[in-house]
Amino acid sequence: MINIIGTGLAGSSAAVTLAGAGIKCRLISAQHSERAQSVLAEGGINAALDTMGEGDTRELHFEETMKGGCFLADPNAVRALTQGAPDIVRELRRIGVPFNLNEDGSMMLRSFGGQKKKRTAFAKSSTGKMIMTSLTDEVRKYEARGLVTRFPHHTFVRVLTDGDGKCAGVRVRDSYTGRLYDMPGRVIMCCGGLSGFFPGMTTGTVTNNGMAAALLFTQGVRTANLEMIQYHPTTMGIPGKRCLVSEAARGEGGRLFSEKDGKRCYFMEERYPVMKNLMPRDVVSREMYREMRDGRKTFLDMTELLESVWEGKLSDLREEIMHYFPVDPKKDPVPVQPGIHYFMGGIYVDARHETSMPGLYAAGEFACQYHGANRLGGNSMLGAVFGGMTAAKNISENAGSADGNTREITEFSGEEPFGCEASPAFMRGIGGILYGSLGIVRDEDTLRGALDELDRLSGTNAAEDAAKQLARAMLMSAAERRESRGAHCRADFPETLEEYRKTTVSEYRNGAVRITFEDIPEAANEDNI
Ligand code: FUM
Repeated sequence: MINIIGTGLAGSSAAVTLAGAGIKCRLISAQHSERAQSVLAEGGINAALDTMGEGDTRELHFEETMKGGCFLADPNAVRALTQGAPDIVRELRRIGVPFNLNEDGSMMLRSFGGQKKKRTAFAKSSTGKMIMTSLTDEVRKYEARGLVTRFPHHTFVRVLTDGDGKCAGVRVRDSYTGRLYDMPGRVIMCCGGLSGFFPGMTTGTVTNNGMAAALLFTQGVRTANLEMIQYHPTTMGIPGKRCLVSEAARGEGGRLFSEKDGKRCYFMEERYPVMKNLMPRDVVSREMYREMRDGRKTFLDMTELLESVWEGKLSDLREEIMHYFPVDPKKDPVPVQPGIHYFMGGIYVDARHETSMPGLYAAGEFACQYHGANRLGGNSMLGAVFGGMTAAKNISENAGSADGNTREITEFSGEEPFGCEASPAFMRGIGGILYGSLGIVRDEDTLRGALDELDRLSGTNAAEDAAKQLARAMLMSAAERRESRGAHCRADFPETLEEYRKTTVSEYRNGAVRITFEDIPEAANEDNI
């Protein structure tokens, strides 16, 4: 029996992979699949399908993913991801995802940031919702056959370990009754990114509270690259969160400009004449930051898009914008600003998706894998589906008879310090400190000041203490990386330095956070980057 925590793309993909191999799993989640953050993903999923006659290849997908991530990702993992992508997207189509198609029935692909070829398969601009709908349907088939058992409204409390420190199960809390249960068996964690550490400031769902990562961290599981926080260039402020204006808009021809004293400047086109508005997100967000710093307002101009593009590819994006703002993007430029969108860092995993705790696996945005210092748009859903599959395959290969299908769940009635939650006020306090120091551009003084401020914030329970430790690890990671690379831009260390082409690893031991830098694995074959 395998326990999967989280039922978004990565968790659902792991469940389908395990159940497809006849292995039983529990799908444990705070929310139902329909509320998973994956549902919010808009623009598409990358695969070198080469259906647009441009001569795209898996090799180019690999190279651009490595380059986009500023060579901080494990090349072996990225190679497996980019090689596997076409089959994944074909399989998603087979299970019913209504991708946009070319007239000949092949997959239509769109342009996305950091990629020279059209490579992003999409279902208008609701791709995540469509993929989640089909994948959830697949999970249901296995539920009906007794291979998947769902436990919605159960939250992660802690990983259970055996005498050797190996993962032996998971303790969860029933959100309705407050009761605690121990579920034996190995564990795959797919609990999403760290949006909850920046309440109201990200495009992510507020229910992705980041607490599972914090609790796991204080249990001694290592995290990596926590300083790598992606600001998506085009978001709009709405109460309680940032509203994503999909990169698909620029992929289909939308243009960024800034304006001051009535004068427009199409700054991306002027400064990057080849890739223009489709430079990787870290570059675009930095350029927008500079425009705004210099007193110019930034806009996305979609007024030149053809009616057929609006109708066939972006109708849902237009609806979304008009739902929140009194502006019709067909007629008027939309005011946009960068906003936190994705966490490249997370729980440190190897290419097999195993964490630093033997027997514990992690996938999706919860894990640090594939994206290095900056993720390419369209690689997140791919990484989640592929990561879930990879974790499931590896965990099942290693699951011996002790992980058999019949082990019982037991109620736990002892003392459990982790069985509590961080208060919204506490997380808002953390959010203010992090947001003020982990912006698009950072510097030592601000980061050190933020660490001092964090020290003064006192948690009142184990969950708040855990959140504080993970926040500390984010700030220390950013302070220790004294260079600029991808999403981590240091005003005081503007150069990219070869000596920092390493993974930033954070660890919590004996009440203290420690940061070290580890070598990136060598590419296994010579036709590498
Ligand atoms: O802009 C977008 O549609 C986002 C896509 C992604 O982050 O992969």
